[in-house]
Amino acid sequence: MFSSPKLRHENGPTTTSKPESKPITGTEIEAEFSHHDLTVARINNGSFGSCPLSIISAQQQWQLQFLKQPDYFYFNTFKPSMLKSRILIQSLVNTEDVDEISIVDNATTAAAIVLQHVTWSFFTSNFQPGDAAVMLHYAYGSVKKSVQAYVARAGGKVIEVQLPFPLLSNEEIITEFDKALKMGKINGGKIRLAVIDHITSMPSVVIPVKELVKMCRDEGVDIIFVDGAHAIGNVEVDVGDIGADFYTSNLHKWFFSPPSAAFLYCKKSDKVLDLHHPVVSIEYGNGLPIESAWIGTRDYSAQLVIPEVLEFVNRFEGGIEGIRRRNHDKVVEMAEMLVKAWGTKLGTPPEMCSSMAMVGMPACLGISSDSDALKLRTHLRVLFKVEVPIYYRAALEEEVNPITGYARISHQVYNTIEDYYRFRDAIIKLANDGFKLGRGDQAGHGAASNFRGHDP
Ligand SMILES: Cc1ncc(COP(=O)(O)O)c(C=O)c1O
Repeated sequence: MFSSPKLRHENGPTTTSKPESKPITGTEIEAEFSHHDLTVARINNGSFGSCPLSIISAQQQWQLQFLKQPDYFYFNTFKPSMLKSRILIQSLVNTEDVDEISIVDNATTAAAIVLQHVTWSFFTSNFQPGDAAVMLHYAYGSVKKSVQAYVARAGGKVIEVQLPFPLLSNEEIITEFDKALKMGKINGGKIRLAVIDHITSMPSVVIPVKELVKMCRDEGVDIIFVDGAHAIGNVEVDVGDIGADFYTSNLHKWFFSPPSAAFLYCKKSDKVLDLHHPVVSIEYGNGLPIESAWIGTRDYSAQLVIPEVLEFVNRFEGGIEGIRRRNHDKVVEMAEMLVKAWGTKLGTPPEMCSSMAMVGMPACLGISSDSDALKLRTHLRVLFKVEVPIYYRAALEEEVNPITGYARISHQVYNTIEDYYRFRDAIIKLANDGFKLGRGDQAGHGAASNFRGHDP
């Protein structure tokens, strides 16, 4: 499965003999993703991302290099290589200083770093019990739990911004966010923290993050944390322009890194002076980027392989910008093809889609709970070999024939039109066969009830 070892320079493996000017071909893309289960129409890049074979191979070289002579690697290779990865990320996301960039395992870890800092602020600075944290109702499950564990437990009050779905415009988001900020400030209340998604997970929507950050600044919110778990490689990420105090994005979702790697940007200011990784090791007190780069002996290859990841994306026309533009256009085209075939609607207009889109599913399927949505997902996997997450939304009272289920489709470089046709035809077959959820267990495949409500 892995290609043979390639020449290496002193600081680790590198790919060789790359014709700089020749864009990657379709056949090469197929070969890069030939380890995928090719019997599955995998239109869910959003959940776990994807990693091409050349990067898996480069990662394995890093692992071997460490295992070959760990002491030499630790004392000579590790730190400059980690710095190199951080410098490359810095250049991608437009920050002033490489010390503003730390590499961590994932967005969940980044949230723990920021929110643990908030906990300490309740004990060591002027945060008071009853001060508020604002976040979207659609915030990701692990982030919501982290707010509960680190902020509510320390005495903070949590205000969730309720958003409608379908969402028709940014104005709807801005209006609801404004209401939440006003609510937090009633009777002289203080808003200490805002957690804002850049792209929500489920339902998936691109949030006007720059506008919301500005609103928070205008209202004097102390700490603004943007959860861009899905963002890099999917939408433009210019952290300087967004203006938050903290911004994280996974590199393993849309940037082809192997699991798992994420960056955490911490804007240089007094707020970050006492910021720490929750796993304390020998680098404690040496600044977050250095603390995060050694949290005990373990495999750091996913973080070290970032130069090779960048080489991979640069084989595509327009690099990562080109990839994300084409993915966006393609996912919108596929979403429009599906709603046309099913007689439904998109959950958001195309400009609020990233490389993911929410596609309304036929009402006749009878999706009437989270558990129904999960049953349908399992059914599609088992019987049709289609992998796609399904979102349930409760109908409003006045709605006639409401769309209660939306599929979140993704497009990544390995997808083909046949993947979406298979999904289209599976749903048409179910509808024609009179398939209906919520009656007995005709769609039951066992696992559905064990996993609820947190599609990554
Ligand atoms: C919006 C959002 N935030 C955070 C996360 C957590 O990412 P991870 O599981 O890689 O920590 C996810 C995962 O899908 C997500 O969608």
